[in-house]
Amino acid sequence: MNSMTELILQLKNVSKKYVGLTALHPSDLDLYSGEILVILGSNGAGKSTLLKLMCGAESSDSGEVIFLGAQQKHWSVATSRSLGVEVVHQELAVVGELNPIENLYLGRELVVHKRWWPFLARRVMRKEGSDLLRSLGAQLSSLKGKTVELSGGQRQAVAIARAVGWGEKLIILDEPTAALGIAETAEVEQMIRTLRGRGLAVVLVTHRLDQAKNLADRVAVVRQGRIVGNFLKADIEVGKLAILITGEESASVV
Ligand SMILES: Nc1ncnc2c1ncn2[C@@H]1O[C@H](COP(=O)(O)OP(=O)(O)OP(=O)(O)O)[C@@H](O)[C@H]1O
Ligand SMILES: [Mg+2]
Repeated sequence: MNSMTELILQLKNVSKKYVGLTALHPSDLDLYSGEILVILGSNGAGKSTLLKLMCGAESSDSGEVIFLGAQQKHWSVATSRSLGVEVVHQELAVVGELNPIENLYLGRELVVHKRWWPFLARRVMRKEGSDLLRSLGAQLSSLKGKTVELSGGQRQAVAIARAVGWGEKLIILDEPTAALGIAETAEVEQMIRTLRGRGLAVVLVTHRLDQAKNLADRVAVVRQGRIVGNFLKADIEVGKLAILITGEESASVV
């Protein structure tokens, strides 16, 4: 961390209960600009729940959310978006039937008025959308065809580019490389580093310890609804992480 680092988001004592189950016990977490925070944990540990509290997709049962020093009484997706927070959810994040440019501008289409009639500014969206994809190093075979016809990595690139296009402060990525091959994963990892280089705060959920080691400036481990570890890069030991994730001393390193 350097002196320019800014505290973007603070979660204080946030928690989430679903019927009959505590997905997240009261937890604290701080997110900084120019930092990649990797969140690790087993299936069902509470990682996505934590992310949903960060972006307001779920409301916390307790505690507070503080964004750039201001306490957020009504933290919702609309509020977080308006403040520069974007999320790529674990579930399908693009609409397959639309082309990549239409996906980038989904729900935020640019409109021009000609003789008072509104028209979609297709040419502007095409130009700015393809510039955005290029600036992130995304190589798509086509901008005109349906997004469903792209490879998994290219689809993921579109989903991330959409978040990047609008997110100015914080980008949250829930397992963005889970379905990708080696080359596609490397491309997405490069996009993530580009975001850090631009001074954004990035949160990334992954199951891959090697990815955590490669990308993270900080790692948080979630186990059974609790944050059981929070380390800076220098203190990351892969063996120790594996034990924290599973809670077992005999955990093997994958
Ligand atoms: N909408 C919901 N209603 C009820 N229970 C839920 C809901 N969302 C999550 N849960 C439960 O909360 C717990 C934590 O889920 P969460 O999705 O946060 O896990 P995760 O760490 O993201 O897992 P994975 O690695 O499989 O994505 C799980 O037991 C899950 O079944
Ligand atoms: Mg999840």
